Amino acid sequence: MTQVPEVTLLIHDLAAAVTPEGSGPLRGREFGALHICSPASIAIAEDRILAVGLPEEIMRRIPSGRDCESVDGRGKVALPGLIDCHTHPAFLGDRAEEFELRSSGATYEEIHGSGGGIRSTVAGTRTGSEDALRSAVERHLAWMLEHGTTTAEAKSGYGLDRETELKSLRAIRDAGKHSSVDVYPTFLGAHTVPPEFDSASEYVEFVIREVLPEAEPLARFADVFLERGSFEVPEARRYLEACQEYGLASRLHADQFTERGAIPLALELGARSVDHLEATGEQGAGLLAKSDVAAVLLPACGLFLDLPLPPARLLADEGAILALATDFNPGSSFCESLPLVMNLACTRLGLSPAEALCACTANAAHVLGAEDAGRLAPGYRADVLLLEATDWRYIAYHLGGDRFATKIKSGQVL
Ligand code: NIG
Ligand code: FE
Repeated sequence: MTQVPEVTLLIHDLAAAVTPEGSGPLRGREFGALHICSPASIAIAEDRILAVGLPEEIMRRIPSGRDCESVDGRGKVALPGLIDCHTHPAFLGDRAEEFELRSSGATYEEIHGSGGGIRSTVAGTRTGSEDALRSAVERHLAWMLEHGTTTAEAKSGYGLDRETELKSLRAIRDAGKHSSVDVYPTFLGAHTVPPEFDSASEYVEFVIREVLPEAEPLARFADVFLERGSFEVPEARRYLEACQEYGLASRLHADQFTERGAIPLALELGARSVDHLEATGEQGAGLLAKSDVAAVLLPACGLFLDLPLPPARLLADEGAILALATDFNPGSSFCESLPLVMNLACTRLGLSPAEALCACTANAAHVLGAEDAGRLAPGYRADVLLLEATDWRYIAYHLGGDRFATKIKSGQVL
């Protein structure tokens, strides 16, 4: 007889436990499919979920749950910890000045074109110490956790020289060790062309030669900003292919302002995701939807920069693997709240609350290759949010509310 692991934590008598159904990413007709158990208890063994079910069922099946640490779930709903699959937390300084300029009419692209924008954060990040950068990443991860994020991707990309890119990736690694958030690092060596280079292709050759070999052990993904004023398809292909040779899966910032061949390139390279898509037309959306490359939408960035809306409904209806993320960064989306992003997905992109929840849990987990996160089901990581509401839709409905009674990370009550 196989032994049932000892229960270490019992969350009992919840109004409901709500989770994406099935396994892997949910797309097409399955996108937004939820399993709702009401009332519910959840048994946890160490860092894993052991069982989710009706309270009496859990007590019958797992009698050891009677003697362990317990959390009273009455009047609350349990949801999986949220997963933010696109963030830029490794920066120093801010762009409040630029925010004010934009409020009086300057555009993001104009500011970028005149040497500000990403390049101004690069200047700030280069001057700070590794300690300062690590503290900044830790602070940003703590903000995310406050809003229910228990797993996050974290990009470099504000160094754009050997020393500062590596410093950023080490800061991400070390901050991750001290944070309750599970961190998935990305080498965004091709964020934009730094001022000391005249040409994008020269810069990309430099990164591949001088930075990539040492960046690789510190990262899981490589990312590029394929856009007018940063990198075009040939440089993006060169950078991502070189990174793939080192084992880094590809992601692309693409179709943010203009459509310039990113989706065909992503399909050609078998990228993990294409992110932004505010400028994607019907044809591109159709191509992406039929592929296994995920579409990551960033509606807080759209709000922050007042961009056109991405074709979210078309992507979802055509069967895309759709995820949502904050794009947390100092310039285009100074926002770390996935519940706010879920609200925007419902109010502006035409997604249902159930689709928004899948997009920030199961589908975001798929983007990161964190397939054991994003669900409340046996064997999954015990990352659980207890919402201070009896209706799970409050997570998207309560604008900027984020009312969590309890957060549990890897089976530990925070
Ligand atoms: O995802 N578009 C490129 N990168 C970030 C913005 C970075 C910045 O403005 O500092 C984004 O929007
Ligand atoms: Fe981004």
